[in-house]
Amino acid sequence: MHKEALETYGKIYRMNVLAGMKFVMIIDPDEIRKAFQHDGKFPKRRMLDMVKVYRNQNKNLYSSAGILIENGEKWYNTRVKVQQPMLKPQIVDKYIGKMHSVSEDFVARMKYLRDQNGEVPNYLNELYKWALESIGLITFNTRLGCLEANLTENSEPQRMITAVSNVFQVAAATELGPKFWLWYPKLTKNYKKLEKNSECIYDITTKYMEETKEKLKDKTANNAVDVGILETILQQDIDNREVVGFMCDLLAAGIDTTSHSTAAILYLLAKHQDRQEILHREIKTVLENNNYKITREVLDAMPYLKGCIQESMRLMPVVDGTQRYYDQDIVLSGYRIPAGTYVALLSGVAGKLADYFEQPDQFMPERWLPGAKKPHPYAHMPFGSGPRSCIGRRLAYQEMQLLLIKVLQNFKIEYHHDDIGMIFRFVNMPDKPLRFKFVDRK
Ligand code: HEM
Repeated sequence: MHKEALETYGKIYRMNVLAGMKFVMIIDPDEIRKAFQHDGKFPKRRMLDMVKVYRNQNKNLYSSAGILIENGEKWYNTRVKVQQPMLKPQIVDKYIGKMHSVSEDFVARMKYLRDQNGEVPNYLNELYKWALESIGLITFNTRLGCLEANLTENSEPQRMITAVSNVFQVAAATELGPKFWLWYPKLTKNYKKLEKNSECIYDITTKYMEETKEKLKDKTANNAVDVGILETILQQDIDNREVVGFMCDLLAAGIDTTSHSTAAILYLLAKHQDRQEILHREIKTVLENNNYKITREVLDAMPYLKGCIQESMRLMPVVDGTQRYYDQDIVLSGYRIPAGTYVALLSGVAGKLADYFEQPDQFMPERWLPGAKKPHPYAHMPFGSGPRSCIGRRLAYQEMQLLLIKVLQNFKIEYHHDDIGMIFRFVNMPDKPLRFKFVDRK
């Protein structure tokens, strides 16, 4: 979509993307930088209109529309409370052990599910379960059990998997199509589906939040200080509705993004066996040198792994950028953009241009190694920028690192089918089934 427009109009153009919503697209990283400079204290974005309607209709359950949707003071009030626990390295590092166990279970499940061709049927769905199980370590403060064999329809993990997937479907359907439903939202099928599935997510999340609060009381009594993200948030003066709403938002933002990104990395490694071998060697050496213990130091000692993740997010990004609108007119590339206009800041598109990356179509994790020439910082920013940037980025990175280590330790990844690209479905997703062949490593 952007490629043709870019060739016709250049690095700034206006487009009617969604019915009634005109966007100005910005692809020039210098102009993206300028746009971010207008963020101020309360950067504004518009998204997930139906979820906003639903939450505003249910103020007994939700104190606001949530961190993804709210703007201004309401957004800020949540962000300041959750920012530190979500991004503080010492707190995020505490999840390394647990996330590593999730990856171990995932690989065991892959071995169990592999067919005679070495392929795992419906592999993307398995990645969704892995991502939900991983994020569940934060939102439910426990293992939910998504990777267990033979989940029944009625089991808690299966109900959660179905509910999260249904909410995504509604979000994608209502966000992308014409928004006629805004006139009568509660009468639509999508709203009813959203309502039913949100209630399921809300109930399960609340149950675990209450359990954590109880445990926290004991811990306080015993003066224990080793607390995780949910506990750190709960220890503040915060409305329960705000906590549950935030946890539901983490589930909304943290599953498709990490699972689709991981799918892209596995695919690019399968297509570039030479790079996969370099990565495998790095993982093997670092683990051997550290008695197979996985720690922050071990993750930091794997620059090639980091390079593979960065390079995959450049070549096959799950989001092409982010979006803002401003209270005042701004000027970009010499054009005056009136206040209130939606501006798409498309660093994901810039990242594939020869203006900013040599041989942009090539998968070259080496470009991200220490000492390599630094790219334009606004030509690759998969997690956005500034005070509203992705609050889950540290967790996402850690999750992906741990999964890749485990998968590469166990398997050589091959792919023998038609090339896979990304299609836009609210976030970008693989356009073909992930028919990887997983060959046991000796
Ligand atoms: C590869 C994985 C991911 C990518 C590429 C990604 C990307 C993004 C981007 C581009 C934004 C908008 C930033 C901006 O407007 O400047 C964002 C926001 C957000 N992300 Fe992520 N994300 C990922 C994983 C996660 C995970 C795992 C979580 C939860 C644990 C998460 C939670 C959020 C939240 C809550 C926001 C809204 C922040 C706010 O508005 O204050 N993300 N993410």
